[in-house]
Amino acid sequence: MRPGNLMKAGIGICASLMLMLAAAASLLLPTREREPNYDETKVPAYDLPDPLVTEDGRRVKTAGDWREIRRPEILELFRSQMYGRRPGPPRELRSRVTSVETRALGGKAVRKEVSLYLSPKQDLPRMDLLIYLPASGSDPVPAFLGLNFGGNHSVHPDPGITLPKSWMRPSRVEGAVVENRATEKGRGTLSRRWPVEKIIGRGYALVTAYYGDIDPDYDDEFRNGVHPLFYRPGQTRPDADEWGSIAAWAWGLSRALDYLETDPGIDPAKVAVLGHSRLGKTALWAGAEDERFSLVISNNSGCGGAALSRRRFGETVERINRVFPHWFCGNFKQYGDNEERLPIDQHLLVALMAPRPVYVASAVEDRWADPKGEYLSARHASPVYALLGLPGLPGDSMPGANQPLTGTIGYHVRSGRHDVTGYDWDRYLDFADRHLRKGR
Ligand code: GCU
Repeated sequence: MRPGNLMKAGIGICASLMLMLAAAASLLLPTREREPNYDETKVPAYDLPDPLVTEDGRRVKTAGDWREIRRPEILELFRSQMYGRRPGPPRELRSRVTSVETRALGGKAVRKEVSLYLSPKQDLPRMDLLIYLPASGSDPVPAFLGLNFGGNHSVHPDPGITLPKSWMRPSRVEGAVVENRATEKGRGTLSRRWPVEKIIGRGYALVTAYYGDIDPDYDDEFRNGVHPLFYRPGQTRPDADEWGSIAAWAWGLSRALDYLETDPGIDPAKVAVLGHSRLGKTALWAGAEDERFSLVISNNSGCGGAALSRRRFGETVERINRVFPHWFCGNFKQYGDNEERLPIDQHLLVALMAPRPVYVASAVEDRWADPKGEYLSARHASPVYALLGLPGLPGDSMPGANQPLTGTIGYHVRSGRHDVTGYDWDRYLDFADRHLRKGR
């Protein structure tokens, strides 16, 4: 080799070495968090999949074709590409009423606690339901069912609620510390999100359970929670199209409904499923998978919930997959920074509720969850309701703060931040009165 060539070869080797070192260093260094986009002018141009056009380009013209062809097609896409497929119910769902207090909350309520054993073999995982029913009247009542973030004892200061023994996700929710072991101090810490007296005063039951009973909310490669109960022999984690944690929590909500179908105090044909934030994503997926839920409420569910992914406003698919790798199925990972390839977007998730009533709620300051993207999902689900002869979301522009829109789809953007407030509950109770109590 001539000296010039030798030098060139040397430079080449040095350059490749540098590149390799840089690549290795970038693997070691934490990925620098990208600034979320909060600028409407930077939202990319996008085309949404048409809820009424099938994958092979056929227009859906009848309610029958929606039911028989397009709805199953959309549901299958969400299952295989986003939340993951879930198993059916356990062969035998055992339940045990562990306490009943007929004079709870100063005589206004009946409080019941019920354990659901999710596994036929052992005691865990076990889901503990807390139920408040109005004390007056003997007819079965409609109910709100939602998972909670802090344990059942966090929902109300009522000293009669059994302290959970399960692992709790340590967190700070709007200033209230939720400890990883339940103690007396934790009673009622999240009660402002659960206005129990108001709910029972309006004639509804409230049913709740701690979401970590179903699957603890951290990435342990699906060793704990309900996933391993359903592994094939030799399987160690869900396949790429099988359920992540959101689908597991939603599955748990269906198991709670299985129990409610047997509870004489509840009208199981009138159960509204609701949830906030990641549990709002869960409520939507529960409503999509299980049509026994007769009303569905998403409170500030954001990315992976009601917000359109293609807008990339606030939280994005790339970020949610990276920070919460256990929430969605393996196949969803391919859509980070690649939203245009998604065969679905979240308006189709809202559309899966049709013809049932669905309410999407945002908060003005909750830009991370993209209020406009949540509104647009509700709006673009409307053509499905129209096809079914129902008013979807009224109007054709996003309402101002605290101006609810209510058709069979409801929407509001409340002033204030990411939270569940009395204002939200007043809207949900009115919406439920309108849809679940009609004909009374
Ligand atoms: C994070 C996450 C959201 C989620 C929220 C919550 O902010 O990025 O997607 O909705 O937590 O559940 O509290």
